Amino acid sequence: MMSPIISSDRHLAEVLASFDQSTNARTTEILRSLVTHLHSFVTETGLTREEWMAGIDFLTATGRATTEHRQEFILLSDTLGVSMLVEMVNQHASDGATEPTVFGPFYLPNAPRFAMGQSIAPEGTTSEEIVISGAVRTSNGEPLSNALLEVWQVMPNGLYDVQDQSIEGVSHRGIFRTGDDGRYEFRTTAPVDYQIPTDGPVGEMLRVTGRSSWRPAHIHFMVSHPGFRTVITHVFDENSPCLENDAVFGVRDSLVVEFTTVGASFDFVLDFDS
Ligand SMILES: [Fe+2]
Repeated sequence: MMSPIISSDRHLAEVLASFDQSTNARTTEILRSLVTHLHSFVTETGLTREEWMAGIDFLTATGRATTEHRQEFILLSDTLGVSMLVEMVNQHASDGATEPTVFGPFYLPNAPRFAMGQSIAPEGTTSEEIVISGAVRTSNGEPLSNALLEVWQVMPNGLYDVQDQSIEGVSHRGIFRTGDDGRYEFRTTAPVDYQIPTDGPVGEMLRVTGRSSWRPAHIHFMVSHPGFRTVITHVFDENSPCLENDAVFGVRDSLVVEFTTVGASFDFVLDFDS
């Protein structure tokens, strides 16, 4: 006779079976796995009711902190290493192709388009400008002309434009295209180490656990071309003291380059779209 006490295993089986009528195989697979891991998490930690409620409150606060200009859930995913893991699981870049890293919460579509060599810093900026240049190539080594480079980075004050109420419009972001020789070039202010937003629930998590909220200086790139796999990545400044301690675990050796007072150079290699 079956025990009248429902075991946690039987309870899990019941929840998993509740998805049996689903007609979406992939959604069902994801939900079943998620439920299985969530149940294991509760069992393994012996989660108390108060702790469960604290978790609900934390996620609620994360949702409330999210606005049109602030994505606290991406920040949470980033700081738990999930965003980088998704990149790793989905990365099929061949040897030599540019490594991807986290997308981050500060990308905006429809940034202003600039001509080769122009600056993404606003006119009249008082900070010194540097030149970022390089080429976009195929994994066969051929230059890729007319490749699209979307660039975004932190301002000299350590904030992205979307975080800074004093900024009208956009700043330190732009779209470029490579020339016939596959090369690109633009001017900007030097990227600086910056703190991820710490005034929300993610910041509270970092404080409670004694973690760093700093990210090493970098410039974000999304490089695309029809027929090739888009790469979303950063180029990091090798002089940053935060390289070993990135709050979102995004540093990869192949993305760290020398930034001088003049600028930096980085070549992107795109994989053919298979
Ligand atoms: Fe960033």
